[in-house]
Amino acid sequence: MAKDTISVTDNRTGKTYELPIENGTIRAMDLRQIKVDKEDFGLMTYDPSLGNTASCKSAITFIDGDKGILRYRGYPIDQLAEKSTYLETAYLIVKGELPNREHLDAWTYNITMHTMLHENTKKFMEGFRYDAHPMGMLVGTVAALSTFYPDAKDIHDIECRRLQVRRLIGKMPTIAAYAYRYSLGLPYVQPDNELTYCGNFLSMLFRMTERNYKPNPVLERALEVLFILHADHEQNCSANAMRAVGSSRVDPYSATAAAAAALYGPLHGGANEEAVNMLQEIGSADKIPAFIKSVKAGERKLMGFGHRVYKNYDPRAKIIKKIAYEVFEVTGRNPLIDVAVELERIALEDEYFISRKLYPNVDFYSGIIYQALGFPASLFPVLFAIPRTSGWLAQWAENVIDPDQKITRPRQIFTGEAERSYVPIETRPAPQTLERKLLRGRL
Ligand code: SDX
Repeated sequence: MAKDTISVTDNRTGKTYELPIENGTIRAMDLRQIKVDKEDFGLMTYDPSLGNTASCKSAITFIDGDKGILRYRGYPIDQLAEKSTYLETAYLIVKGELPNREHLDAWTYNITMHTMLHENTKKFMEGFRYDAHPMGMLVGTVAALSTFYPDAKDIHDIECRRLQVRRLIGKMPTIAAYAYRYSLGLPYVQPDNELTYCGNFLSMLFRMTERNYKPNPVLERALEVLFILHADHEQNCSANAMRAVGSSRVDPYSATAAAAAALYGPLHGGANEEAVNMLQEIGSADKIPAFIKSVKAGERKLMGFGHRVYKNYDPRAKIIKKIAYEVFEVTGRNPLIDVAVELERIALEDEYFISRKLYPNVDFYSGIIYQALGFPASLFPVLFAIPRTSGWLAQWAENVIDPDQKITRPRQIFTGEAERSYVPIETRPAPQTLERKLLRGRL
């Protein structure tokens, strides 16, 4: 009977070690016993960017990158996108089960009661330049919220965690809307508790002088589905940031600000903004061959393409592409869709992309919809952060209560100087020698 172990022979010593295999992994700490002598620290793994390292055990989201499968707590993403709402999906992600009617109503009420921001938050936000990027405003404002809720530090108290979860999910759309209105010099629109989560967000963004804002139901549903699709995605860069920062036992506002900062990057959630900017730069289908050539020459990336896990079509991209045409029925066709569809067609027939298993990801088509909905490209990463807040909080809470987890503290392979003694300034090398040393990519 095959044993769930791996035998490792260290050829430096001829010794063999038997390591247990659990969930398709070996514990990295089991390698530390492999030493050449008793002075030896023991073996470690070297895994830059953690491409082959399970950093945690999680029951929240399952992805099969080869098959293009994505499930939240076991439910396939296409079923949730078709049948659920964002708040119901957020409940599922955070609590682990679909709510019954009573629990969904209570969850919706509790979040709705936390959509308002402390008046001082507005003053804080108005300290940003008029042209501040809304994602930078969101990161800063979420971090600032930690000063309004000092009780949030009691992270081992489940009721305290639950209260901060409601506050953050409730307040993210308000912060986003305030950042947008501030950028246009428009007055803020207070939350309208009569509207749905997405309807209220659209109201805070776009309401002008009308007494009661009524969102277009097609656009409201499109935003709801986009929020469902962006709610979580297992151990992506920002979820990892949330867990790592949260592992120091800091409050969830500070951890969420760190996660939003990670999402802001153009290789992560900032890609939706970059993808639309790229499509606009290409401008028309006849310019695509020249652009593809520049990508294949390594001069730039095809933004919205590729994924660390999906080596097949991102299931979310398929759904988003379909929604685009539903939105265009109301808003009018965004001509960038023609450039995007042709770009996808050409790329998916090109050996460079095929050999690297590069397919459209969640960010390739989402920006085209957001633009058709009237959002500026700079708001796109914020539109990613709002729904992802429920995923970040679920990952954070799972990490807080996981007995396997301690403060995140990786090791390193040291490549620096061996010990050397202090040198008085008078005897240090001449500037040109020092300059060459510094220019050797060390700064
Ligand atoms: C998100 O992790 C998640 O789950 C994230 C996310 C989520 O929901 O949380 O799904 C959201 O962040 C989606 C990704 C959005 N980013 C982009 O669209 C930016 C463009 N994509 C790339 O930067 C890249 O594909 C990444 C960052 C997404 C993934 O990069 P990897 O896994 O580190 O892959 P890699 O850089 O090692 O690429 C492998 C090869 C390289 O070529 P070679 O060196 O082998 O010749 O593929 C090439 C890369 O140059 N490549 C691309 C490319 N992506 C990878 N070439 C051109 N265009 C691209 N987009």
